[in-house]
Amino acid sequence: MMRLTLTLIWFLQISFTLAENGLNGWLRYAPVSCDQHCQRALPSRIVTLNSTRGSPVGTAAQEIHDGLRKIAGKKATTEHTTSCDTHSAILVATVEDYLRVCNNKNSNVPTLNDDGFWIDIDGAQGRIIGQNARGALYGAYEYLSRLAQGDFSPVDEVTSPHAPIRWVNQWDNMDGSIERGYAGPSIFFANGQIVGDLTRAKQYARLLASVRINAIIVNNVNANATLLTPQNMDGLARIADIYRPYGIHIGISLNFASPDTLGGLGTYDPLDESVIEWWSDITDRLYDRIPDMAGYLVKASSEGQPGPDTYNRTLAEGANLFARALQPHGGVLMFRAFVYDHHLTEDSWTNDRANAQVDFFKKLDGQFEDNVVIQIKYGPIDFQVREPVSPLFANLYQTNMAIELQVTQEYLGHQCHLVYLPPLWKTILDFDLRVDQQASPVRDIISGERFKRPLGGWAAVVNVGTNTTWLGSHLAMSNLYAYGRLAWEPKADSIAILQDWVRLTFGANRQVLDAITDMSMASWPAYENYTGNLGIQTLTDILYTHYGPNPGSQDGNGWGQWTRADNVSIGMDRTVKNGTANAGQYPSEIAQMYEDIETTPDDLLLWFHHVPYTHRLDSGKTVIQHFYDAHYSGAETAQGFVPQWESLHGLVDRERYEAVRTRLVYQAGHSIVWRDAINNFYWNLSGIADTAGRVGHHPWRIEAETMDLKGYRPYAVDPFETASRYTAVVTTTNSTTGTAQTKVKVPSGTYDLGVNYFDLYGGQSQWSVYVNERLVGEWKGNSEDVLGHTPSIYLDGHSAIRITFRGVKIRTGDRLKIVGVPDGVEPAPLDYVVFLPAGVID
Ligand code: GCU
Repeated sequence: MMRLTLTLIWFLQISFTLAENGLNGWLRYAPVSCDQHCQRALPSRIVTLNSTRGSPVGTAAQEIHDGLRKIAGKKATTEHTTSCDTHSAILVATVEDYLRVCNNKNSNVPTLNDDGFWIDIDGAQGRIIGQNARGALYGAYEYLSRLAQGDFSPVDEVTSPHAPIRWVNQWDNMDGSIERGYAGPSIFFANGQIVGDLTRAKQYARLLASVRINAIIVNNVNANATLLTPQNMDGLARIADIYRPYGIHIGISLNFASPDTLGGLGTYDPLDESVIEWWSDITDRLYDRIPDMAGYLVKASSEGQPGPDTYNRTLAEGANLFARALQPHGGVLMFRAFVYDHHLTEDSWTNDRANAQVDFFKKLDGQFEDNVVIQIKYGPIDFQVREPVSPLFANLYQTNMAIELQVTQEYLGHQCHLVYLPPLWKTILDFDLRVDQQASPVRDIISGERFKRPLGGWAAVVNVGTNTTWLGSHLAMSNLYAYGRLAWEPKADSIAILQDWVRLTFGANRQVLDAITDMSMASWPAYENYTGNLGIQTLTDILYTHYGPNPGSQDGNGWGQWTRADNVSIGMDRTVKNGTANAGQYPSEIAQMYEDIETTPDDLLLWFHHVPYTHRLDSGKTVIQHFYDAHYSGAETAQGFVPQWESLHGLVDRERYEAVRTRLVYQAGHSIVWRDAINNFYWNLSGIADTAGRVGHHPWRIEAETMDLKGYRPYAVDPFETASRYTAVVTTTNSTTGTAQTKVKVPSGTYDLGVNYFDLYGGQSQWSVYVNERLVGEWKGNSEDVLGHTPSIYLDGHSAIRITFRGVKIRTGDRLKIVGVPDGVEPAPLDYVVFLPAGVID
């Protein structure tokens, strides 16, 4: 019996370690090989000099304790001490405590900045000394990261952060939904309140602290004033209590009109005494509950949000209202630069949303309080697949600045497409703006170094949700990990960061490391290739989900994400001589480069210049041929991700292997939807054929509308370019089963059989494919439950999807039949069938 129980426990432990649902992210502490000799060489005691309850020093000791046990099978004790006894121990302390207790013996503490740490460990003995308690926790995670990657060698490392502000933003709404979140509802809010069970919120804190994030804004920038009710302030205090042991401060987004909408003052004029008093009172009440609150984030006068402009006050007057309320408490005001007119008219050649930030903020330089930080999106528009650096970074000499990045892939595939973002971020961070003809890389501007500013740093919109993978996709977590690492050290190498993450997340297998590295590093260029090229932006549907292709949606509306594409030419003329003068917002050397079409890099050509489709690039290709070729090349790269991942079968646990595979297969199919939609759109517009003869020519396809239809009817898809030959079929009613049949004409052989269909929100149709009445495959339209991208209720580029059945044996003349059973509002739509011989993509 005893033996049975032990076997059962062993089995349960093993199966537990095998169950990899992503919850622990890169903090799995998976066992690495460490025999008894190796274990003896590890510390048996973890000693802290700080016994304050809830201090990150205590969290550090606990993490090291757990990590040693799980990673190396080493049981160590944890103890608080007031002596400097470090025999067989790791000592964890702040510099202050360390010097106080151990000063006589060791006064060689290196210089550290806020949050920095010194880690000096050789085998069983060593020390982790933080400049503050948070720094000590960072040191502990660094130590564990090394062990978890199988690195037991001595370490002596001194490191301090690039910038003091290393924050994340969540766009969580009070009802529990998340704006631009693709991984389920909020871990913080539900039904207008802070949730009772903050377990997930705590697990998130742990992940964030391990990559040295020091504050989180918990609610959406499009903020709801009801966050400020006494009950919700109590809830915020509960979150803060949970985050404090991880060294993470919490902050909140504010709605500018709250004094009126919540306070009933009848005004929210930032210069009105009653408004000033109202905010000061609210701020005091928050700090009564959360004495270490990080501060506020404010989106004002933007995209319909209220702001100081209602009262003809400046943005600086608006920002300073909050900054002054925060000053007695040491809080920071992050004020967003994302201010623009979203009712711009395209009729005027010189109108340009990209000019807005400099237009609004430059004149206010020097007018902001010292605890204001302007939070600036990396490019002048909005998280596009390629943008130049926002010129605002070069225009504020006397104002603190932070960069805003997006980990959640709003315009970059909603985590259903693999896109490893650091290479994109690096194009921004490393870009030298040459302010006053001096070296001015963006990273040195945001750190405060370039303009000698006291504050500065980083914010990233993350939007994790309750899905156990956090972001909806296991592979997308490399972006969150890398964000933290870059915010600490922006010169760090994208591949080195990625590979640390891979080893921590999937283990040390070389094949796994190589495959994920290759795929990740190829992913952003591929996504750029099959979405929007040459700086034209991600050609997604900007009026609806920001997900699939819809190039036509960019123009003819007030949002200003224009391409100005007509039947002969394309691109925004942002030159000073002839266009919107946006190039002139950059310092002179950069302005000259962008002003001149010859010196503008090809990848930003259409951002700065309006040219004919026949314009030749540096590469010698025309713009239109570049579009075609890039789309084919990008989609081809995405096809390759599937076999690359499949080569890891058996090397990655089953749960994560399957989850990742599902997404990569989907991405491969959707990249073809993208490729064809964009190519068809510009072919149709320009009338210029693809010199390689691919666009509009698909020899292996059978269009559903050409098949024998029963219970199905042709349907003209809108936007037209998102269906092959612009037409799909749908069932004649929402309760009629449809069949589409045809005689197969391809040569006899073995094929991968692809079916392109549309999976709408609001129904789960069922499809079955038969060859000569033999069932070859069946599936359900349930991607809304599996994928997490913003769904669509239409047949369009968001709902277009492909399923592939491998290795189907076909003889010429076989009868192919597809049966579609509609469900809800989804009429079992079909676009085409494709027979793919080995190596053919079509
Ligand atoms: C984008 C995004 C919005 C968001 C806004 C912002 O426009 O689509 O959902 O509110 O950015 O950053 O404020």
